[in-house]
Amino acid sequence: MSASAIHSAEDARRLARRRLPWMVFDYIDGSAGAETGAARNRAALDAITLRPRILRDVSQRSLATTVFGQQTERPFGIAPMGMCNLSAPGADLMLARLAAKHKVPHGVSTVASTPMEKILEVAEGHAWFQLYFTGDGTGTFKLVERAKAAGYKTLVLTVDVPEVGRRPRELRHGFKMPFRIGPRQFIDFALHPRWSIAGLIHGKPQMANFEMDGYDFDRTESRAKADWDTLARLRDAWPGHLVVKGVLDVDDALQLQRAGVDAIQVSSHGARQLEAAPAPIDMLPRMRAALGPDFPLFFDSGLRSGEDALKALVAGADFVFFGRILQFAMAAGGDPGLAQLWRVLTDEMSIAMAQTGMTCIKDAHQDA
Ligand SMILES: Cc1cc2nc3c(=O)[nH]c(=O)nc-3n(C[C@H](O)[C@H](O)[C@H](O)COP(=O)(O)O)c2cc1C
Repeated sequence: MSASAIHSAEDARRLARRRLPWMVFDYIDGSAGAETGAARNRAALDAITLRPRILRDVSQRSLATTVFGQQTERPFGIAPMGMCNLSAPGADLMLARLAAKHKVPHGVSTVASTPMEKILEVAEGHAWFQLYFTGDGTGTFKLVERAKAAGYKTLVLTVDVPEVGRRPRELRHGFKMPFRIGPRQFIDFALHPRWSIAGLIHGKPQMANFEMDGYDFDRTESRAKADWDTLARLRDAWPGHLVVKGVLDVDDALQLQRAGVDAIQVSSHGARQLEAAPAPIDMLPRMRAALGPDFPLFFDSGLRSGEDALKALVAGADFVFFGRILQFAMAAGGDPGLAQLWRVLTDEMSIAMAQTGMTCIKDAHQDA
């Protein structure tokens, strides 16, 4: 069984690569350009060492923390990802159940493949809505109202996609949303029958948040019109917590803080946008120093293990998010695959905490 074969994120990736059509695997796995941005972040994470400490009685350890005053069982959650049901039928709801079980935030993408209301219900409230600004913003602000009416309390505005990055691996396969099945995709799907038959039974994954009057979302439509006035409008329109995701510049972060956002998420979109962006993990300590010790700072991009996540916490993040590896786990083994990878990540972090003399997440921040 695939789930029991997952002992690391790389195991999940390898199993997913076998099962998924090339087009889907490369859409999830691919990064911008020649993928040097992904390599830079990986090298930066690998270069960080944690300080081994001894004889501190670390027999009782807790990974619990709080985000926006809410208890979470782990200091890591689920990054928003579009079209997750491509990785496995029902993937969005597998993630939602995981979020409910461990009381961690589940990022629900603007281009999620399950309606935002359903995900919030299954996640038992542990879901944050991620917003893309598009076109002239009319549809965007309708989505904000919809998220509010659905009961979302946290909105995550993603700001690092003024234009969709070029990812040659997905372009080569002719990946489009909603996808079209030409001769090349037909062969690809025929060679991956397990995925294709499940897709036939459950139906082709769709972008599920756009059955609204006047909202016709085009994934490739420019998102470039958003500016600081847009942010101010959004701040006025959204009474709940407002997180801005995709920030890599200290000056921008300071301006966001002044603009009244509630948290900043340092991220390079998993190296899927600007190839030449700095390694996000290198920016974290500078962001923390600039924003002060108490400003909520989140992180994602390139995390592949519980130890990686601990490094980000030590570097200044209050909370971190995993992205594509969760999709690989579902592609490899469905619900049990996801649960297994979650256990692996938990064990990796807990063991690393023991080895570095930590018993709680606060210790990680104090070690920074
Ligand atoms: C397949 C895929 C789809 C994504 N879709 C979105 C999205 O719709 N909105 C968003 O803000 N970020 C999106 N992201 C970026 C993630 O939220 C996150 O920043 C990134 O995956 C973290 O890096 P990691 O995958 O290396 O962990 C996507 C990432 C992947 C891999």
